[in-house]
Amino acid sequence: ALPYDLSGVRMVISAGGTREALDPVRYLGNHSSGKQGYALARAASQRGARVTLVSGATSDPGEPASVEIVHVDSAREMQSEMTTRAADADVVIMAAAVADFRPTAVAGAKIKKGDDGPSPIHLDTNPDILAGLVADRAQGRIPRSTVIVGFAAETGDADGGVLDHGRAKLRRKGCDLLVVNAVGGGKAFGTEDNTGWLLTADGRETGLPFGSKTLMASRILDEVAALVPDGQVP
Ligand code: C5P
Repeated sequence: ALPYDLSGVRMVISAGGTREALDPVRYLGNHSSGKQGYALARAASQRGARVTLVSGATSDPGEPASVEIVHVDSAREMQSEMTTRAADADVVIMAAAVADFRPTAVAGAKIKKGDDGPSPIHLDTNPDILAGLVADRAQGRIPRSTVIVGFAAETGDADGGVLDHGRAKLRRKGCDLLVVNAVGGGKAFGTEDNTGWLLTADGRETGLPFGSKTLMASRILDEVAALVPDGQVP
């Protein structure tokens, strides 16, 4: 039986990839399937959490039952939804693959081929949503007790510096828990299986077995449940 240990916990989870418009018909995007974030939403809901899923573009991750879903396109839309909803969340999980850059201008009409061949695409930097949530919490716009979870996709293995990169990213982003995914060689993006480590701000490091995103989700939620302050869970 599933533990019912997240009963009443308000959770906001982002999933999928953002799309950054170039013109009315084109965008810059990524291969995120959304499966890990959707698996988290499903598992959290089954464990009693009240879940809102802020979803970018996905490829058929399946609709989780009893979860509120908000669809967004761009990183800035996702930031706006996450920031508003984080203000009354106990747990915020950034599982989305957010585009780091967006086209500087969105053309009002479809860009034509033209006679001079291709023209360059100019990019601006998108906001770091996760770092912004941590900053909002530090400034009191999000409750101090809200648990903030980030993801990191790193190539390589434990000896190849994945853990070191993960530790550095955990410090840099300032979140409470970082899920480090070992990627490359067909792992993680778009696949069913995932592997990696869970790193907490207070120095706990747990290896994740290679397995399904559902299994990953349940391990991640075990760690989240341990981080939710006592007394918050009814
Ligand atoms: O720095 P990096 O992109 O590896 O960090 C990944 C983590 O940061 C993920 O949790 C992702 O959802 C989040 N992120 C974000 N905003 C961005 C880029 C990444 O919130 N612009």
